[in-house]
Amino acid sequence: MCGIVGYIGSKPVKEILIDGLRELEYRGYDSAGIAVLQNHQFSLFKAVGKLINLEEKAQSYESTGFSVGIGHTRWATHGKPTELNAHPHVGQNSYVVHNGIIENYQELKAMLTSKGVQFLSQTDTEVIVHLFEYHLKTSPTPFDAFTKTLEELEGAYAILLVNASADNTIFFAKHGSPMILGRNREGETLFGSSDAALIGKCNEVIYLEDGHYGFASSDTVALFDSKNVSIALNFTPLSENKLSAQKEGFRFFMEKEIYEQSTVLSDTLMGRLHDETVYFEELDSSLFTGISEIKLCACGTSYHAALTASYLFERHSRIKTSVEIASEFRYREPLLTPDTLFVVISQSGETADTLESLKMAKKAGLKTLVICNVDNSSMVRLADASILTRAGIEKGVASTKAFATQVAVLWMLSLFIAHERSTLTPSDLAHQIKILRSIPSIVKVDVTLHEQLRRLSKRYLHGHGFFFIGRDVFFPLALEGALKLKEISYLHAEGYPSGEMKHGPIALADPELFTIALLPQHKLYDKTKSNVEELSARDSTICSISPLDFDKADDHIRTHMHDDYMQEFFEMMVVLQLLSMEIAVRLGNDVDMPRNLAKSVTVE
Ligand code: G6P
Repeated sequence: MCGIVGYIGSKPVKEILIDGLRELEYRGYDSAGIAVLQNHQFSLFKAVGKLINLEEKAQSYESTGFSVGIGHTRWATHGKPTELNAHPHVGQNSYVVHNGIIENYQELKAMLTSKGVQFLSQTDTEVIVHLFEYHLKTSPTPFDAFTKTLEELEGAYAILLVNASADNTIFFAKHGSPMILGRNREGETLFGSSDAALIGKCNEVIYLEDGHYGFASSDTVALFDSKNVSIALNFTPLSENKLSAQKEGFRFFMEKEIYEQSTVLSDTLMGRLHDETVYFEELDSSLFTGISEIKLCACGTSYHAALTASYLFERHSRIKTSVEIASEFRYREPLLTPDTLFVVISQSGETADTLESLKMAKKAGLKTLVICNVDNSSMVRLADASILTRAGIEKGVASTKAFATQVAVLWMLSLFIAHERSTLTPSDLAHQIKILRSIPSIVKVDVTLHEQLRRLSKRYLHGHGFFFIGRDVFFPLALEGALKLKEISYLHAEGYPSGEMKHGPIALADPELFTIALLPQHKLYDKTKSNVEELSARDSTICSISPLDFDKADDHIRTHMHDDYMQEFFEMMVVLQLLSMEIAVRLGNDVDMPRNLAKSVTVE
């Protein structure tokens, strides 16, 4: 997702900004830009695509002497990835870069437009710079105007703003999106939306907190809290190790990615939920004209997201849905009819089997859609339409946040289609949207629970296998739980529909067979419970995951009480991810790069 850098000092500013942005590239972006202020004059460069394009645009620019600069990599949310929509955004004498979303931008834009302000971009960000200049007309100082601007902004933001009349200063603010202020022994001040951009350039930093704002100039930093009280500068030393900085204090990328699911899911939902409908900027509803069936196709974890979606599509959208493993689909001479929408799901957008299946569907004349995390990937370029999951780059080979965001997008898509086909009442849709909005807070990792799982993990390092069991959407979740464990612990694990155990697998039951039972309160609780009791009666060791007590469990992981089974789904997903990770850690395995596996499989 988006990245921010800022610099105040006398070194070549362009190189410092672009270098900082390069350190944030791993987050994913589709355009970039920098603005430099020197002797009251601005220089601005923006480019769509990779940083190399920005470097080419700014090739002839060189700075000597003191300057201030701000830079940004943008992952499009409001408005397409174009040069006009790329940051920095410009007023008459000011520039701004911003991460997050200004929720009341439409009201602010209407107010400013009525005062004669002209907008150049489709972004929410642009209101910030115009609002600042509007206040500047009646404020004694630029900082005063900046403070007034912040008072009117609603939503989440990390902001850097520069104004020509204060040509040694950067105004900054943080509310909901990360921002770090750093300095070095040469007296330079830098900003970054992640400390990865500051490693090697700063020796100490302040991780700004929500509500913090202020200004930094060549000789001063002034910092205020949300009550407008001036606060002391509490710098902490910054590590010099780039890799560990990218992990932001977590032991593994997988752990960091589990913990950031709350933030990335907010990004996934951003701008897509209205009160009674779901809106996808990328989708034209004509995509569904003449469609009476959906075929979902994917590999690995993405296949589990597809399987989860098949329950939601039939339940909410009342549309016939089938799911295909891409490597099977390719060679089984499938019957394809033009009333079928072919949907591929892929984190990378490059998986060979899924890509080839997409080509087959296109060749057969089907309409196609891809749910993907990587813009401009092969699948996104090929499909008729695409929806991006906005998970940011996932580094752990065992997929976590990519799965969470895929399920969220597919769930939203089921509601989008339900709205098109009028298969849910407005109040049912409103309820679903309310539940969706709660998901980012539900997946926030509870550190006490994480500690319980860490302790519990030592009891599950042996045995002859694991069965993960569940019903309905908790069956694909069980498959995903088993896959996570297999991938990083190398222990044998299988996912099963809990009602299917009696048809064979139960023969394996004994104390050395571990059953991880998903027992949600709001989906077929009694039915699943009976199946788990059957296993318990045959002496399988039972670890139940449920908000309700279960007296047949050897171990019980208590989840929170929720209103809806999808909230339980997302909380249990986090439990399964953490449990697998802690088992793998105890076994001494390489969590981020497990043996024999690749992140993106571009061969058959
Ligand atoms: C590989 C990865 C899995 C992933 C699968 C599909 O096997 O190790 O984590 O689920 O490919 O990848 P995709 O990028 O298409 O989602």
